[in-house]
Amino acid sequence: MANKVTVNYLKEAKNTGEKLTMLTAYDFPTAAALDAAGIDMILVGDSLGMVVLGYDSTIPVTMDDMIHHTKPVVRAAERAMVIGDMPFMSYQISRKEAMRNAGRFLQEAGADAVKLEGGEEIAKTVAGIVGMGVPVIGHLGLTPQMVNVFGGYGLQAKGVEAAKKLVADAVALEKAGASAVVLEKIPAPVAKAVTEAVGIPTIGIGAGPDCDGQVLVTHDVLGLFEKFTPKFSKRYAEFGAAMRQAFEAYVNDVKTGAFPAEEHSFPADTAVVEALAKPAKTKKAKES
Ligand code: KIV
Repeated sequence: MANKVTVNYLKEAKNTGEKLTMLTAYDFPTAAALDAAGIDMILVGDSLGMVVLGYDSTIPVTMDDMIHHTKPVVRAAERAMVIGDMPFMSYQISRKEAMRNAGRFLQEAGADAVKLEGGEEIAKTVAGIVGMGVPVIGHLGLTPQMVNVFGGYGLQAKGVEAAKKLVADAVALEKAGASAVVLEKIPAPVAKAVTEAVGIPTIGIGAGPDCDGQVLVTHDVLGLFEKFTPKFSKRYAEFGAAMRQAFEAYVNDVKTGAFPAEEHSFPADTAVVEALAKPAKTKKAKES
């Protein structure tokens, strides 16, 4: 397909310094709008669990949920690379299971790549998945599937040892064949150091301006997820409020009879109207 974003495009962007753009989508219309806007990568994130399915974390999201939501995104994305996010339990148990599940994203859903959370400890898994022909995007820093081990969604890689480990993790992912790495909620100077240490693009989310690209959760960008707004996110619209206003107006219109109006209704031939009209009451019926 002409101009489709591939791993070669990511490589080229790293070399030329062209900033890469990524946002999330979980359905056809959102993915179509993102593609039309010229986004480079659409991540079908397991953030699905929180912003669409109403869970408190990403932990309950399953492979079947992810495949189901990746399919419509793939149907909409003509240019953007579509990345399926491997959910909790889909790649941690064994390399074989990881490879099978990564393959499902390409074979069943039509995705172009997969994303996995973790560093050196999953490097062999990443190599196995890349080796079978599935491009991999890494994810370091605040990896939400580890929320229970981290004890929350706080800033990661704050100390010297943690920052050095994060750089080593990124290098390990690159060596394993990853095509890019997402860096979430880490100090900007640490993200800068990672960006300089690896030859693959870094895609930041709460990781400062020196990453090779940026990603946000679309529901945060559109003001559709109102439980909380991460400090690192930027709202470009207030769709949540707009949606409530529209629904309130509809409820009011139906209650007051303002909707449907004549222009929303279909007329019938006079003969039909007359045939359906109540028959005139007979004299006897009127008297009784
Ligand atoms: O699931 C997701 O949306 C993500 C992004 C926050 C990078 O992993």
